[in-house]
Amino acid sequence: MSDNSENPRSGAAGRTAAVIPAAGRGVRLGPGTPKALRPLGGTPMLIHAIRALTQARAVSLVVVVAPPDGTEEVRAALYAHPLPDDAVEVLVVAGGENRQESVRLGLAALPDTVDVVLVHDAARPLVPVELVDAVAAAVRGGRPAVVPALPVPDTVKEVKPGEGGEPEPVVATPDRSRLRAVQTPQGFDRATLAEAHQRLADEPGEGATDDAGMVERLGAPVVLVPGHQEAFKVTRPLDLVLAEAVLARRRATDGF
Ligand code: CTP
Ligand code: MG
Repeated sequence: MSDNSENPRSGAAGRTAAVIPAAGRGVRLGPGTPKALRPLGGTPMLIHAIRALTQARAVSLVVVVAPPDGTEEVRAALYAHPLPDDAVEVLVVAGGENRQESVRLGLAALPDTVDVVLVHDAARPLVPVELVDAVAAAVRGGRPAVVPALPVPDTVKEVKPGEGGEPEPVVATPDRSRLRAVQTPQGFDRATLAEAHQRLADEPGEGATDDAGMVERLGAPVVLVPGHQEAFKVTRPLDLVLAEAVLARRRATDGF
């Protein structure tokens, strides 16, 4: 009988995989190549995200969900930036119209041996590996859905849409101390997340931007763990400035 307890990548309990939705255009970042392929410190954002996820000892498989017309570009980027650890397998699949569809397509590519899934935005390239480890450990510890989150620095208003260029009327001011901003990677028991994506696949509209929200709608418990400021999402041009600064500081302080 073999003992796999020393190696979490091949544990008898099943594999942990990461699904990285990277099929977005990055409209809010402005015109250019798809966001996941834009460089940060000279290396595509997606490559940073993959490295962060694969540094987590538990992760043995990464499914990258590429823009539908960009799978070859993504494969070329992976070829140009090989991972140091060849114990990690990387698959590339084509994504969909919105994030929800892209994640569903990524989940469909997972082999049966995977029982824990981390879903991580390519647009969060600087997530610290400690955060990935904490999320994975909480799911392995029996939580079906685990989400990193931070307190909200600004007070948040709920509005209704303004009519004809009128200022937006405020509907409510939720108590800020009870609000959290969520990040990725979000970790799930694979069967729970797959069921949520199956049951909600045919709903009309833009689709969900948050996997945990889909699991909540199924009635499954979702818990939060402390997030990290460096897991911020690169969304607007100023976020790129911040990301370059974080990367430069890491390179200066630990030769990253
Ligand atoms: N995403 C995806 N498939 C889509 C849309 C988004 O895989 N059809 C991914 C993005 O690549 C990103 C993550 O979902 O890694 C979070 O989305 P967001 O930050 O909104 O990225 P974009 O959709 O690319 O940006 P924008 O909304 O500004 O166009
Ligand atoms: Mg988007």
